[in-house]
Amino acid sequence: MSTPLTAVVVGAGDMGSRHARHWAAAGARVLAVVDPDLPRAEASAHETGAQAMIDLHEALALRPDVVSVCTPTFLHAPTTIAALDVGAHVLCEKPAALSLADAYAMREAATAAGRELRIGFMRRFDPVLDALLEAGARSGRPLLAQATITAGIRPKRLMHDAHANGGPIIDMCCHLFYVWGLLFDGQPTEVAARGYTFSDGKPEVAHIAHRALDSALITLAYPGGTVGQVQVSWGLPSGVAPVERHTYVGPDGLVTVDWPERVVRFDGQGEHVWTQSGSDPWKGQIDAFHAELTAAAPRRVASIDDGIDALRTSLAVLRSVAEGRPIALADVASGDPPAAVAEGLDGDADAGALLEAGT
Ligand SMILES: NC(=O)c1ccc[n+]([C@@H]2O[C@H](COP(=O)([O-])OP(=O)(O)OC[C@H]3O[C@@H](n4cnc5c(N)ncnc54)[C@H](O)[C@@H]3O)[C@@H](O)[C@H]2O)c1
Repeated sequence: MSTPLTAVVVGAGDMGSRHARHWAAAGARVLAVVDPDLPRAEASAHETGAQAMIDLHEALALRPDVVSVCTPTFLHAPTTIAALDVGAHVLCEKPAALSLADAYAMREAATAAGRELRIGFMRRFDPVLDALLEAGARSGRPLLAQATITAGIRPKRLMHDAHANGGPIIDMCCHLFYVWGLLFDGQPTEVAARGYTFSDGKPEVAHIAHRALDSALITLAYPGGTVGQVQVSWGLPSGVAPVERHTYVGPDGLVTVDWPERVVRFDGQGEHVWTQSGSDPWKGQIDAFHAELTAAAPRRVASIDDGIDALRTSLAVLRSVAEGRPIALADVASGDPPAAVAEGLDGDADAGALLEAGT
């Protein structure tokens, strides 16, 4: 029997505990789960037979084959780079980072180390994506696309912090931008957006010094005439349940999506309904990465370049809001975050203070 792959998971919250469980189920040996919140690390470690640790470098000294980075987003770059520097492959949760400078530094570290660096766009492993890609392909081009992604104020306050997880334009829209990159065969050329903070005056987030934009209407122009419009908000009253609905209109049909449960395509022959329940795309993603690393399976897990593409679009949206004009994607370059999120993203933010303030 061959030696099992060894894994370390950094961050033992919702995502980290999933990653640890799925690495173990895939046949990897989870060496350590790291979290400054030791009881959280212990709970996940207990489930997977790993050691619980609070110190990243102690865990990296175990020389794992692969590291899952599941910390808040502002810590993705330093954690990922430290893991690559000890020779580990990395699966970093989405979004890649908050700034292109950080994302490029991550990519450079992976190239220098000769290791894989992937971003957790687990929607690649959700059957709803394949159903949408098929329905979209049958609907002709160009497509006129609309997506509505809404929720009440997020219970995890760091998600509203521009310096921690970046707010929905970075944290949530990256999923949609990744999906649309696949569906529309490329990245947008131009975006135009108006942004709002519907959370103004809501006491749950009043303590956050750098509260992110939480609502926007975004128009994205794709090559070939396809155009997408996104209505996004995390600023609705607490308790309003999350909704994600898409509509695609093309010359050969109409597609509606209730993500991730249902895709319906309407054409001249009638209504074609696809439904699912119970898939676990996070598990599918880790099974696929495990197979890539141990059995040379075809490469399917999203790349750091996919993470950079989605982040560049998010940053273009934020810049469009800040400057009140359309932004060409070609003008959004490395080290060039828009004013709305630029302050404090140079890697010297006080992590402890952010975590304390945001939770
Ligand atoms: N793929 C998805 O669908 C999906 C869903 C939710 C979150 N995410 C992403 O996953 C990441 C984590 O989100 P989450 O929902 O698990 O958050 P969470 O708050 O549940 O967990 C984050 C954990 O990181 C820990 N942490 C903080 N600083 C740390 C450090 N220096 N070292 C190690 N651990 C540290 C926290 O104590 C916490 O336990 C974020 O980047 C988020 O955007 C992805």
